[in-house]
Amino acid sequence: NDLAGRLGELRDEMVTTDREQYDSGDIPAEKQPLDARFFWLPEEQLAAYEADRESSELGRIFKVANGLHDHLDAAAVLGIGGSYMGARAMMDACCDPYHNELSRAARGSKPRMYFEGNNVDNDASAALMNRLIAGGYGDSPAEERWAIVVISKSGGTLETAAAFRQFLRTLESSLGDEAPQWLSRLVIPVTGESGKLHDLATEIGCGEIFSVPDGVGGRFSVLSPVGLMPAAMLGLDCMKLLAGAVEMNDHFKTAKYADNVVLQYVAVNHLLSQHRGKTIRVMSVWTKALESLGMWYDQLLAESNGKDGLGVTPLTTVNTRDLHSRHQQHQQGANDKVFNNVIVDSYRSDAIPVGHSDRNQDGLNDIADKTLPDIMAAAIKGTNDALHADGRPTTDIVLPGIDTHVMGQLFQMLMIATVIEGRLLGINPYGQPGVEQYKKNMNRNLGRA
Ligand code: PA5
Repeated sequence: NDLAGRLGELRDEMVTTDREQYDSGDIPAEKQPLDARFFWLPEEQLAAYEADRESSELGRIFKVANGLHDHLDAAAVLGIGGSYMGARAMMDACCDPYHNELSRAARGSKPRMYFEGNNVDNDASAALMNRLIAGGYGDSPAEERWAIVVISKSGGTLETAAAFRQFLRTLESSLGDEAPQWLSRLVIPVTGESGKLHDLATEIGCGEIFSVPDGVGGRFSVLSPVGLMPAAMLGLDCMKLLAGAVEMNDHFKTAKYADNVVLQYVAVNHLLSQHRGKTIRVMSVWTKALESLGMWYDQLLAESNGKDGLGVTPLTTVNTRDLHSRHQQHQQGANDKVFNNVIVDSYRSDAIPVGHSDRNQDGLNDIADKTLPDIMAAAIKGTNDALHADGRPTTDIVLPGIDTHVMGQLFQMLMIATVIEGRLLGINPYGQPGVEQYKKNMNRNLGRA
């Protein structure tokens, strides 16, 4: 009951934060760590688009994305951490799993999409640059063009900046005589209002520079141009994505505690970590399509709430795959985990039956009529029951299916939950002071000031 009351207070603080007061910086101290800017973002994006379909941020995103569809074979999205994982999660969840291998026609003229600038891995970068230069499935040279979407809020992140320099050089030389005409269209920057990347994009003459809104941190920025630009290029429905997030906001604001998925998620997980020693939080996704969503959440939770010696350790598992790797430990190892299942209720493709065979050496004819979703359902129930029998707690988050609308809901649910949980722990979920040390050391090792 104490926790329910406290969560109610935190919700009220968040939803009653006044926008004008917030913008003026005149917010009472107790509300400050409950930054509401990411929370308002989906409504703001949609309202701005309704007000001006041409020059709103979303309008400009659609214009650039749609304008390029007929001219592009591929795009390299350069970014790291919060400037990378949301777009990747959307692509993996909502696109054909073999999107990059489909013909241009089967892709609906949407570009193949690759992610780099999230490491300094020589072979990975070299392989991608070679792949982009070699081209793919275009029917004409124009369709073999590729673009760079470079995303860095600070504009100073070394991994992304170094990749951008290298990929830009490669793009410029592969464009040859076309470079003066195309380079400024084929480089799409998403960055802060000012900074090194902004300056560089201006120097290149980029037609559009998209912004990461002030006050929205990287891992909370998936519903800004950081996620929207790559999503629009892939032809994903950004309006439905934002509408899903708005619905989650409304649900969070109005649903009673007992029905409120955000507050229930926080309450259960917080109580289990604080009072039952469940310091490892497993997001157990029951579809391959959500593995990257799990990675996005790993970052969100770890970087937001892993501070001051506090915060649980996130871990994503993909099942049934990981039942054959991690599950032994999860079932019988240290009892320090909670398993949040993310379950999909319906699939995009027709259910495939096991099927009858005259070669029954595999002994499967007894389940010939069962489909893969039937087997999945049996595995989910079997795993939950097994874990419960050994006193290991689970929760189920059931999605009606996977599309941009559901992804918008899920992103927003998990972002709000993370902030509320940070406040319960008494830490500031924004910023990542612990990440700075490695950067300083890396720069020193490179002989930089
Ligand atoms: O969540 C965060 O703030 C970080 O993960 C950043 O997104 C990441 O460090 C990349 O930063 P930037 O966008 O400034 O290059």
